[in-house]
Amino acid sequence: MIRQKIVAGNWKMNGSKESILNLVNGLLEGSKSSAEVVIAPSFPYLSQVADLTANSQLTLAAQNVSEQAKGAYTGEVSCSMLADFNVKYVLIGHSERRSLYGESDQLVAEKVKACLASGFKPMLCIGETLAEREAEQTIAVCERQVAAVVDTVGIEAFKDIVIAYEPVWAIGTGLSASAQQAQEVHQAIRAYLAGLSASVSEGVQILYGGSVKASTSAELFTMPDVDGALVGGASLDAKEFLDIIKAAG
Ligand code: PGA
Repeated sequence: MIRQKIVAGNWKMNGSKESILNLVNGLLEGSKSSAEVVIAPSFPYLSQVADLTANSQLTLAAQNVSEQAKGAYTGEVSCSMLADFNVKYVLIGHSERRSLYGESDQLVAEKVKACLASGFKPMLCIGETLAEREAEQTIAVCERQVAAVVDTVGIEAFKDIVIAYEPVWAIGTGLSASAQQAQEVHQAIRAYLAGLSASVSEGVQILYGGSVKASTSAELFTMPDVDGALVGGASLDAKEFLDIIKAAG
């Protein structure tokens, strides 16, 4: 099965009205690609970016969402709010959310469930820490993180879920996993899913994230189980991000 590649930019807590205007304009000029190009601004800029990217090939993602529908949850943002801004994807369970804000596998699964119920496609982020890799726990950790979501929403729901494998030791460190290391884990995740449903497993897009740069993306994208990239730092630079998009074909 041919899976469309996705190149997603996670802007994290960066940007201003002005810098985002420049970045989006830069991307609009050059982002034609066979890959789906996704950008994830922080919440205050979703409206601005939704307006700027209307009728373009750029797709919008949110970086997080509440598992709750509405009510007394100060500081949280609900799925129905995101629905007002042309959002298609929501990053769920990014390692920064898991490690800095205490998001458990179970909470992550609840957020995935809320997203699916509202018609969004979750980008489920998983990945091991350096200590876990050194203890040869990489595959076990990734399987555990995926299994928590399977247990909550079922395997068929993965037709609408994108997985982003992001080894924690590679995020923001400049230390990217090699293309072969990424492939090895992606293949194992797909094999795990295949044990539950061969057809679902074939279709699931699995992105790699962690210090992706233009210079490393071409080799990464030749790997059979790498269906794109989730890019942090390099997505804040229009030229660098466009070069990664180009590498995706
Ligand atoms: P990075 O971030 O590309 O800056 O390592 C990736 C991510 O956290 O999604």
